Amino acid sequence: MADTESELLARIRVHGAVPRHIAIIMDGNGRWARARRMPRPFGHRAGMKAVRAAVEGCLQAGVEWLSLFAFSQENWQRPENEVSALMLLLEEYIAREAAELRAQGVCVRVHGDLARLSPAAASAVDRVVRETAGGSRLGLNLFISYGGRAEVVRAARSLAQAVRDGTLEVEAIDEAAFASRLYTAECPDPDLLIRTSGEQRLSNFLLWQVAYAELHISPVLWPDFDRAVLYEAISDFQRRDRRFGKVST
Ligand code: IPE
Ligand code: IPE
Ligand code: MG
Repeated sequence: MADTESELLARIRVHGAVPRHIAIIMDGNGRWARARRMPRPFGHRAGMKAVRAAVEGCLQAGVEWLSLFAFSQENWQRPENEVSALMLLLEEYIAREAAELRAQGVCVRVHGDLARLSPAAASAVDRVVRETAGGSRLGLNLFISYGGRAEVVRAARSLAQAVRDGTLEVEAIDEAAFASRLYTAECPDPDLLIRTSGEQRLSNFLLWQVAYAELHISPVLWPDFDRAVLYEAISDFQRRDRRFGKVST
């Protein structure tokens, strides 16, 4: 580990309050490639190393949950060659990393409209979920073919279905009942949401869950993301005053 990385990690540990759940909008691969006069998929490929850095950094810092926005519902509208390159990279990532993730104690879940994935991508997803099922050190949520609004609609439908089936009273619909029907039912809401590449928007990511997340916008393009960038974001988080609508104590 580089000096600055270990110094940053030591500082985080001394401070104590590490976010339990970090969500990341991994953005800027296309611009990273363009700056090198390369096609966009070159940037996506370079971004795989950054995914590894994010996972390892969370393991070292003691973060319990990491949610990565890998491919949005809207991203299906990109040129066909870019979409297929991204799907192949997903398969390659799983083929290369599944054993290591399992060895590290990472438990992978994949969320989104997975019916749209190719059979090969879908079976890779099944494989990594199955092979890492026992991991207990870090929960890694990969959001693929995902949209936040679609997730909310899906939860609303599930509630409506339960009411129609007679298993749920309308009066019993509260925030907890709603949250229990989201993909993230088993984990706490993200404490920290990081977006790389300087863009200051949510782009339809985890709309319900980020209600009280601290936002950290990094100018770094995703392929340049490393553990030092992650630790800086955690340090920044540790300096925040999270009031949740109350007054400071
Ligand atoms: C993020 O990088 C990866 C995906 C959205 C799949 P982009 O591909 O959006 O890169 P920019 O934003 O065009 O630089
Ligand atoms: C959001 O990035 C989606 C992912 C990182 C997977 P985009 O690059 O697609 O978002 P916009 O188009 O800048 O809002
Ligand atoms: Mg982008």
